[in-house]
Amino acid sequence: MRITMVGTGYVGLVTGTCLANTGNDVTCLDVDKAKIDKLNNGVSPIYEPGLDDLIRRNAAAGRLKFTSDKVQAYQSAEIVFICVGTPSDDKGHADLKYVLAAATDIGKAIEAGPGATGGDTDERRGKIVVVKSTVPVGTNAKVRAAIEANTAKTFYMASNPEFLKEGAAINDFNKPDRVVIGVNDEGTGNRMRNLYEPFVRQGNPIFLMDIPSAEMVKYASNAMLATKISFINEIANLCESYGADIDEVRRGMCSDKRIGNQFLYPGLGYGGSCFPKDVLACISMGELSDTPARLLEAVHEVNQRQRDAFMAKIDKHFGGAAGISGKKIAVWGIAFKPGTDDVREAPSITLIQQLLDRGATVVGYDPVAEETAREVLADRIEYAKDAQAALAGADALVVCTDWGEFKYPDFDAAKAAMKSPVIFDGRNLYRLEQMREMGFIYHSVGRHPVVPEAVQQS
Ligand SMILES: NC(=O)c1ccc[n+]([C@@H]2O[C@H](COP(=O)([O-])OP(=O)(O)OC[C@H]3O[C@@H](n4cnc5c(N)ncnc54)[C@H](O)[C@@H]3O)[C@@H](O)[C@H]2O)c1
Repeated sequence: MRITMVGTGYVGLVTGTCLANTGNDVTCLDVDKAKIDKLNNGVSPIYEPGLDDLIRRNAAAGRLKFTSDKVQAYQSAEIVFICVGTPSDDKGHADLKYVLAAATDIGKAIEAGPGATGGDTDERRGKIVVVKSTVPVGTNAKVRAAIEANTAKTFYMASNPEFLKEGAAINDFNKPDRVVIGVNDEGTGNRMRNLYEPFVRQGNPIFLMDIPSAEMVKYASNAMLATKISFINEIANLCESYGADIDEVRRGMCSDKRIGNQFLYPGLGYGGSCFPKDVLACISMGELSDTPARLLEAVHEVNQRQRDAFMAKIDKHFGGAAGISGKKIAVWGIAFKPGTDDVREAPSITLIQQLLDRGATVVGYDPVAEETAREVLADRIEYAKDAQAALAGADALVVCTDWGEFKYPDFDAAKAAMKSPVIFDGRNLYRLEQMREMGFIYHSVGRHPVVPEAVQQS
């Protein structure tokens, strides 16, 4: 099929590349010309494991193209996927301006093109416009209206939320747990099913449903995952207050099959470009419909407080916020999670900002997110070439992202490099016993702090 992906971000570029890899003829369109230039020079604008190679192979085979030419991209497509951003606006509502701008462009291009001629072949039936961006229920209808405002020609709508995870995006798209497709008519459902069939050969389901339900599935899924994170963080905080250990509690609790052990790790709270904005969008959907989403309001609040609670531990160690002034703090991990260069809504950014506000010098290190971090933090922090280099002369280390390379560091070298052997671990990477033996002052989440006796007495 001839497919156009609108937006070459984490979703559009990955899904477009994977669709090309199953033999489709894919054009990736973006209004950001710098991204298109990079892609046409064989460079991916995002970090995603395995993506560069897949792009190169499919581009070389002539199945994957990149352009900023909207008219050509829209007119040539049988299926157009809208994959542009839907960030929160200043009130927490999903901002649909990029989605609706794309819809207007699509309407104009359909109007200027030959249009559907009718008949049995897919091509004659008219284009399918698929909303893949995460959007509030009712957005498909708005997209349809924006297209219809610009053309009277026939087209079809579908909702197809995306569930890929950054860092594992290619595998997630190629082997989805499920594919959700919302449609108004059987013919569009069949065309969409045909497109996805190669990805569900192992028997995972394709769910065809009405459009509002498909839109809601995505929000419900992300809201559930965010809830699990806030839940375990709340339990971790109670553990700290009452001298329990979240690792033990987690083990005991998660062995109950009804609960399971996925997505129940305490830490700095969720970040990234999806959970924060999607929880806020659900809350705002509740407000707009007089159906308050009280649980999700709490999920959001717990998440925001988690960063502050962690910062409070750092403040306390240094005798109050003022005590941080002039200190050198190493930060390991800036990406919101391992496997990605995405720093949007990353807890690290909040913590680094608070450290800078208190007058600290921050030396950050991230295996892949330095470039994206520079776009946000510029030269307000120093960037170390590797994890060990970040520690030189540091008064403390703050671990923000659980990258694999931070899991087994050379603790002797770390201790020798640091001015004081102090670790604030926002990801619970290290064993308490090990920290005790190595003589670190060690604070983590929901576990007992490790403070060597000599320090306790002083
Ligand atoms: N990032 C994820 O892990 C993920 C996972 C599932 C769903 N989603 C959802 O998918 C959507 C896209 O997310 P993303 O992270 O890929 O966004 P992104 O910000 O990485 O990419 C969006 C791209 O769209 C381009 N764009 C904006 N307006 C355009 C227009 N009119 N025409 C062409 N291009 C345009 C931008 O230049 C940008 O390159 C969001 O709704 C998000 O919630 C994201």
